[in-house]
Formats: sequence, C-alpha cells, structure tokens
Amino acid sequence: MSAQGRSTTDASAFVLDGAAIAEGVLAKVAEETRALAAHGVTPGLAVVLVGDNPASQTYIAGKGRAAKACGFHSIQHTLPAETSEAELLALVEALNADPAVHGLLVQLPLPEHIDSSRVLEAIAPAKDVDGFHPINVGLLSIGNTSRALIPCTPAGAMILIDRACERLGWTLPGMEAVIIGRSNIVGKPMAQLLLARHCTVTVAHSRTLDLPSVARRADILVAAVGQPEMVRGDWVKPGAIVIDVGINRVPAHGRDASAKPKTRLVGDVAYAEAAAVAGAITPVPGGVGRMTIAMLMANTALAAKRAVGV
Ligand code: GUN
Repeated sequence: MSAQGRSTTDASAFVLDGAAIAEGVLAKVAEETRALAAHGVTPGLAVVLVGDNPASQTYIAGKGRAAKACGFHSIQHTLPAETSEAELLALVEALNADPAVHGLLVQLPLPEHIDSSRVLEAIAPAKDVDGFHPINVGLLSIGNTSRALIPCTPAGAMILIDRACERLGWTLPGMEAVIIGRSNIVGKPMAQLLLARHCTVTVAHSRTLDLPSVARRADILVAAVGQPEMVRGDWVKPGAIVIDVGINRVPAHGRDASAKPKTRLVGDVAYAEAAAVAGAITPVPGGVGRMTIAMLMANTALAAKRAVGV
C-alpha cells in the first residue's frame, strides 16, 4: 500500500518516538561494549572542539555523556579559537595513531581560518564516525554500506523510516521519496540511503520550482533545510511518512524565570498541520535529533569491532 491508501477519515499520524527508539539503540551499543570487553577492548570516542561556539559546546557535552553511558572511553579536546590549521591537523594525526581511539570527530563549524575539508580529509576513514570523509561518502554512494561509516543523522532517520514502514505495512522498494535539502551532512547521504533501499528519490532545494507540488509527490518526505515550519500541511501527501530533521530555536510568548525572552524548538515542518495529514511523523524535539547521538555511539562501537576484527 502506498501513501494513497490512507483513508481521509483516519486523521492522526503515528508519532515516531525518537527518544524511545534511540534508547533501544543505545542499550544495544552498551551490550556490544560489554561483549567487546571480553576481547580486551573498550571503544574510544575522541571529540575535538575548536573555539567556544555555545551550540557546539552543548552538542559535544551530549556526545560525551552518551559515550560514558555506553561504557566507552570518552576523550574531549577543547582548543582555543586561535588554534592554527596545522595544530589541529597535528592533533588529528595523533588521534588517528592512538589505538585507544576508535572513533574521532571534529565538531563543525570550524573557525573561518581553518579549511574544514582539509581537516575532515585528515581523519582516518576507519575512525570517521561522522561519515564525512570522502572515502566514506564514496563507499555509501556506490552502495558499499558494509564497509562505510554512515553519517549519523540520516542513519538514524532511516531507522525511523523502517519503524514507520513496519507500522504502516509498507515496503520501501518503488516508493517516492522527496528530500528537501541537499547538505553533505543530511540531504545527500539520505538520498543515497533511500536509493540503496530502492526508493525513487528526488532531492529538492532552495532553487526547486513549485516545491509544494514536488513535496506532495512523496510517500516519504524528509525535511532538512533549517527553515522553521516551512513544510505546511498541504505539502504532505495523505498518509505519507514525514521525517523532520530541522531543529530551529524560535521566539515563544512570554519570558522565563531569568526574564530572558522565551524560546522554543520547532522543526522544518509545521507539526500540527502535517500530523493531521501524514501516516507517520517525527516530532521536534524527540524525533530525529535523539537518533543522531545514538547512531554516533553505534558507529563508534562498529569502528571498534572492525578495528579488532570482531
Ligand atoms: N555540527 C553539527 N552537526 C554535526 C555533526 O553531526 N558532526 C560534526 N562533526 N559537527 C556537527
């Protein structure tokens, strides 16, 4: 059955609980970590931050907490914003050579004087748990997912899509997937993953003509543009699976206890409108965002297993 099979009287979408599904992934990673201990191996994750971007600090604190909760060896390097590219590359080389480090990521964005591509290309592909190195990008694009490390957000979104398909009784081959957003981190790898599962994939972007009509073709609609609530209810085909990758902070009414203006998180999809039409949908927060860190831990455990040949 495709999205067309949804009856017009069936008006509430199945809400994909990213928090609960991520907990399941993390529990499995913790179990794999205990199994690796029998081989004398503790997965090690090194995270490098350059500068003091507050959002990056929050993200990497979350990554460190999750790594410890999984039983990993968690290493964090925080370097000043003035760090030179050569100094950063030297640290990456040292972490590449450290056998206790199985996963290595450099948090983006980097300060402007550092060439991000050069840094990402310096990370050993086998330790590149973000999946951003051109070797991993290439392996994914030729469909060699058994050797690649796959970017965490699209890998997590794929698990949510599979869960929605189970619930709706769908199989992916032949389905129309539309991804709004063509970033290297989400849009492009998401397209490769859906293509590998035999979907018919369209990648739409800011220059796409008549975006609402393109979106309405989708059995699986993925929004990854960073525009608060851009995707409206009438962009959604009745019964479709809607995956909202956006995490946007917007002003809310009133002030909090510290008299700061209140803010709230919204996705790229107008949730209430879309949920009234979709067959399954991810909330924000509590959807895809929760999966990203869980998949980073899964990639680190996978890199550790590959390193020791388990
Ligand atoms: N900045 C925002 N998202 C990410 C991510 O997934 N990985 C890295 N390295 N930096 C980011």
